[in-house]
Amino acid sequence: MDCGVRLHLAPMYILGIESSCDETGVAVVQAQASGTPALLGAALYSQIAMHQDFGGVVPELASRDHIQRVLPLTEQALGEAGLRLQDIDLIAFTRGPGLAGALLVGAGVASGMAMGLNIPSVGMHHLEGHLLSPFLSQDPPEFPFVALLVSGGHSQLMRVDAVGQYVLLGETIDDAAGEAFDKSAKVMGLGYPGGPALAALAEQGNAQAFALPRPLLHSGNLDFSFAGLKTAVMVQHRKLGEQPTQQQLRDLAASTQAAIVEVLVKKSLRALKDSGLSRLVVAGGVGANRALRAQMNAACAKVQARVHYPELHLCTDNGAMIAMAAALRWQAGLMPQAQPALAQGLDRSFHVRPRWPLDAIDSISNQ
Ligand code: KG4
Ligand code: ZN
Repeated sequence: MDCGVRLHLAPMYILGIESSCDETGVAVVQAQASGTPALLGAALYSQIAMHQDFGGVVPELASRDHIQRVLPLTEQALGEAGLRLQDIDLIAFTRGPGLAGALLVGAGVASGMAMGLNIPSVGMHHLEGHLLSPFLSQDPPEFPFVALLVSGGHSQLMRVDAVGQYVLLGETIDDAAGEAFDKSAKVMGLGYPGGPALAALAEQGNAQAFALPRPLLHSGNLDFSFAGLKTAVMVQHRKLGEQPTQQQLRDLAASTQAAIVEVLVKKSLRALKDSGLSRLVVAGGVGANRALRAQMNAACAKVQARVHYPELHLCTDNGAMIAMAAALRWQAGLMPQAQPALAQGLDRSFHVRPRWPLDAIDSISNQ
């Protein structure tokens, strides 16, 4: 049978592998020629407990742990999907950005398995995975939309016209929003990763207790800057003396969170206004923050804009977003190398891109 025809009629089973930082994620997505692809199975292992003793991610430990986890997680995801490895048509892995050694584990395993199965493997962009992760929710967005990407390493506003069409509108000139949460939490003696810990402490704090800066709020553009905030938090924390009370810490956490959230909300609203769009997607780890969601919802409701989020557990790194991004690229015709018929002739060499701007996504071969 002609393989081009088969591709249009049969569902495509895509295995996605994420290993860019401290989470190993594997998932299976089923894509048809049209319609939103379906998540069939997913497995995730977070290395947070392992890195906690060091106050941050230790790259070499991360790589070694990915090696231990990736095959058992693959079995788990396939089991949940009710599929065998032989049923998979395409393996997608995170090519970058991320930690080089950690990326190499996913890339090596994906390429090796694809070679053994005689199917193609494709390297995906981690941030495209985050960006398209709301397509895994019950309420997927329609194009075009503005995306606020807020993770541990990135804070960007993008205009998204279609899969693969991303225009950078603004980004952080120093720390990312997640980094601002993590570094402020560290100053306050909270554990790693600091974002969720600081957010939990902030729940019972007074957000007006400390006056903290809102960097670049009135800069007239869509860039962010968060490095100064961490310094301001440090100064306030020092003023509290050796033994701050629990309530003082709650108030400082709430004030810090309020400063970050206000900047993210106001810049996102500005991006909607400037672009004339009325749909917003918030993705990446910081997108799990409840205060951000509440204030973004309220601000968007005022201007009659729709806001979409990934499900809470899919805000941070996972394999489902990588499989989903591959499925959407395949559906959009952006993945010519995904034809199983071509697998035999494929170049099986692979590479990773630890640094890789999202707007340069198509600047190299995606094979
Ligand atoms: O997207 P992600 O899992 O990894 C990267 O690609 O960087 O994002 C991790 C970041 C960390 O900085 C973490 O502290 C932050 O997301 N984060 C949060 C929350 N959950 C995760 N920040 C604030 N509030 C949260 N609930
Ligand atoms: Zn991420």
